[in-house]
Amino acid sequence: MKILAIETSCDDTAIAIIQDRKILVSLVASQVDEHIVYGGVVPEIASRMHIEAISNLYKQALSRANLKIDDIDAIAVTYAPGLIGSLLVGVNFAKGLALSTGKPLIPVHHLRSHIAANYITDTALTPPFLALVISGGHSHLINVKDYCDFEVIGRTRDDAAGECFDKCARAMGLPYPGGVHLDRIAENGDPNAYSLPKPKVDGNPLDFSFSGLKTAVLNTINNSKQKGIEINIENMCASLRKTVTDIILDKLQIATEQTNSKKIVLAGGVSANSEIRRTIKEFCKKNNLEFYAPELKYCGDNAAMVAAQALYEYKNGNIAKSDLNAYATLDIETLK
Ligand code: KG4
Ligand code: ZN
Repeated sequence: MKILAIETSCDDTAIAIIQDRKILVSLVASQVDEHIVYGGVVPEIASRMHIEAISNLYKQALSRANLKIDDIDAIAVTYAPGLIGSLLVGVNFAKGLALSTGKPLIPVHHLRSHIAANYITDTALTPPFLALVISGGHSHLINVKDYCDFEVIGRTRDDAAGECFDKCARAMGLPYPGGVHLDRIAENGDPNAYSLPKPKVDGNPLDFSFSGLKTAVLNTINNSKQKGIEINIENMCASLRKTVTDIILDKLQIATEQTNSKKIVLAGGVSANSEIRRTIKEFCKKNNLEFYAPELKYCGDNAAMVAAQALYEYKNGNIAKSDLNAYATLDIETLK
């Protein structure tokens, strides 16, 4: 089955075509150069740039795959969660395409698609497994019982892991998106140079809270500035990266025992982080668990992962009606 998928949930316009779990084409038009001057994504600019890019990207995708729209069996689109203006561009384009061609339209949840990035990287991977989804907006531990059956066992209470990285990186003067630069700079730093807190979470021990850690880093930077002392950026990046990794590993350990999982799957933009990948891979090796992580180019937002999840949504009968809407927030467990 050939699926053409569209992803516009944040600041990347992406179109991909896959046949079963094999990618025929995957294009991403990144807007990072536009947003870099503002130090973060400006939603109005993001929506406008999606509108400018999407038609051309669609034509390019078909032409690079040497296909016509008639060769495609279904259209898939990210419809939630994300920036509402951005999502609406993709959803409306996909609805128009499905309506004009008479092809089925498959709505895909953004976090489900991040997990599905692993189905492309490892074509033999099958649920059940334990997924750690860490991105700019989410830090979730998810018991993936089947391709379309999810149970969230730990979730973001405040700032997500990526948000914490990005805001701290910005305070250190690093360009957007900070997480990527912070990871690179951390390689040359001492992870024990700064002692940073691992905030406690009341209630569910699997829930994540990174805002206390972010505040601690920002306070250290500001206090140093006031005293006229330069912080060592390499050491701060390494210390923050290590602390985030330790927090994640602690929770992953509990979740693995709780769910008796044998396979650990990383997903989301932050799963590109080299320290997190190394540490969790090592943890899996020590504990005889299978370790999966998307290829680096499929960790961040892309449409190939949307198409991969769409395969299973389609098999599960999840076909959108022509009144499909976009939603800024939506739980991964229950769809609209
Ligand atoms: O999944 P994603 O592309 O978009 C969302 O759905 O949020 O994730 C983007 C996030 C950003 O916060 C970015 O800084 C972070 O992923 N990120 C990283 C790395 N690469 C991307 N964070 C830490 N280390 C990286 N290597
Ligand atoms: Zn994402």
